[in-house]
Amino acid sequence: MKHLMKTRRTIIAGNWKMFKTVNEAEALVKGLLLELPDVSSIDVVLCPPFTALSRVADLVSNTSIRVGAQDMHWEKEGAFTGEISATMLRDVYCRYVILGHSERRQLFGETNESVNRKAKAALSASLRPIVCVGETLDEREKKDFRAIITRQVKESLAGIPAEQAEEIVVAYEPVWAIGTGRNATPAQAQEVHALIRTSLVALFGDKYAGNMRIQYGGSVKPNNAAELLGQPDIDGALVGGASLEARAFTAIIKAGL
Ligand code: 13P
Repeated sequence: MKHLMKTRRTIIAGNWKMFKTVNEAEALVKGLLLELPDVSSIDVVLCPPFTALSRVADLVSNTSIRVGAQDMHWEKEGAFTGEISATMLRDVYCRYVILGHSERRQLFGETNESVNRKAKAALSASLRPIVCVGETLDEREKKDFRAIITRQVKESLAGIPAEQAEEIVVAYEPVWAIGTGRNATPAQAQEVHALIRTSLVALFGDKYAGNMRIQYGGSVKPNNAAELLGQPDIDGALVGGASLEARAFTAIIKAGL
């Protein structure tokens, strides 16, 4: 499906979460490489667990597909047991890093402030941050979720120079849509994407904000991808479950071509 009105380059990323051993990762990537047509007109990013990054980067090295990590620490190195730095991710050919995923915010104490530090460190290391925001079901039903999302965007991206803004991808992932099979409707998603773009304009100005990509994530599947990606402010997808299967992920990517 062509989006003639859009000038932003579509970005489809697969967040594998804590799935796939190195051998399983290899099998998935080989399957994808067999299924995929030429995808060089868009950005396709695979985000395996840390342990499989190196092998996946190796397997896609002759293609336009890029590799991303699912988190990182903001320091360059040091006594931070269990952590990984941006330099280490670059060392295994990562180009992107997911930051502030709702699972990290909810289960591992990630805050807008830590996401902000990580985003700055990622940009300094020439890694493109995919900064996730989104409301819980409770927030959507009981609170002003628009204010919550606006605050997540502003605080997570505070103090970043406007000239670096285009390197940042924002992912809107309503928590109630993640892994539930219940995606936001295209209209619901578009409304929040437009709101996020307004926040980005306030932070970085029209020129830069207009070029920033905003992905939708949350139960993106082959049967809903085209309609979601057809919305004016939806510039891509961050795919969880469906990215673990070559056929399904290929179908979603094709919807973005
Ligand atoms: P699902 O596509 O499995 O709902 O996961 C979305 C997600 O969390 C991607 O980061």
